[in-house]
Amino acid sequence: MTTQLLTTTEHDLNAAAAIIRSGGLVAIPTETVYGLGADGLNPEAVKKIFLAKGRPQDNPLILHIHDAVQLRDFCRDIPDSAWLLAKTYWPGPLTMVLPVRDVVPKTTTAGLDTVAVRCPDNAATREIIRLAGVPIAAPSANTSGKPSTTTAQHVLHDMDGKIDAIVDGGPCRVGVESTIVDLTGPVPRLLRPGGITPEELEALLGGLIIDKAVTGEISNDTVVRAPGMKYKHYAPAAEVLIIDGSREAAARYIRQRFQPGDAVLCFSEELDLYAGCSPTAYGAEAEPSTLSAGLFAALRKLDDGSVKRIFARCPTGGGINVATRNRLRKSAGFHIIDAGASEAPAGTSIACPNHSEI
Ligand code: TXA
Ligand code: MG
Repeated sequence: MTTQLLTTTEHDLNAAAAIIRSGGLVAIPTETVYGLGADGLNPEAVKKIFLAKGRPQDNPLILHIHDAVQLRDFCRDIPDSAWLLAKTYWPGPLTMVLPVRDVVPKTTTAGLDTVAVRCPDNAATREIIRLAGVPIAAPSANTSGKPSTTTAQHVLHDMDGKIDAIVDGGPCRVGVESTIVDLTGPVPRLLRPGGITPEELEALLGGLIIDKAVTGEISNDTVVRAPGMKYKHYAPAAEVLIIDGSREAAARYIRQRFQPGDAVLCFSEELDLYAGCSPTAYGAEAEPSTLSAGLFAALRKLDDGSVKRIFARCPTGGGINVATRNRLRKSAGFHIIDAGASEAPAGTSIACPNHSEI
């Protein structure tokens, strides 16, 4: 099939909605990452998403709606906290897990008795949903296991010939997938960190359980509440190693081991420390939103086949950095090395071999 590139004109949004209504696949822009959309109420259409991505069938999809009032159409037993969250953060990078109504097929929910719902902060995509007249089921628009896509070009790279169309809405503002909060238990539970921070949720809801999938490594046989959190994710072909510690200690550690085929993924403030190592900055440590916005694009840039190993610097602390850290750790398969905090002994040479051809 030929994958059409659409814009956000009313004509093209109508074309995108028509493809969705007829059971096709359209990649849609959102403020977080691009989604790979199909009619969420049509099991045959939803099956095509799993095929195009190579996604395991037991990993449920998020249902995208254009207005919070649609929650009632697809969910039951909606607690007050859901309406409060919707009022405060929708449209926006927040997904709620709620008890599902029968109208949503099991293909979308992977047979769970709950459904994940979100209203994205992208006017073009909300208009497509409205015009289509059905909620759009959409996972991130990447080949399963690869970094999510934050531009239409990234989507084309992974999905050319596999889907009907891509709506180009420009680069995604947030850059990491939505925050997922499960509202089916007595206390809201954070299943995946994202653009709405744990601190914001805690302040609004008064209580929040942080699921262990957010911070820790989950083995394949662990029962997890967000099935997708157990899979290897966001991984370029190269091995990713996170090097924690002070700027100086990390630079010393990396420069001492840097070989041809290696790459450095760091903060823009650190570029000078890696002269001769062709470092890639994914954002500024002083501006955490630039790190989340730039992470997946940088991982994709380093996924060109010539890079075998990536030494990566990972942000510390709360806020959006919780999400950036979660994604980077997953892309590294939780391979984290502490380079320590000590200064280099006086007179120690930490010259980087010059491999600027990398
Ligand atoms: O920002 C986002 O959320 C993007 C954009 C396109 O909206 N979508 C996205 O979808 O990241 P995906 O499929 O890549 O990640 C959805 C996650 C998976 O980990 C999945 O297991 C989890 O949500 N999920 C879906 N339905 C669930 C449910 N009923 N209960 C628990 N987790 C669920
Ligand atoms: Mg995904």
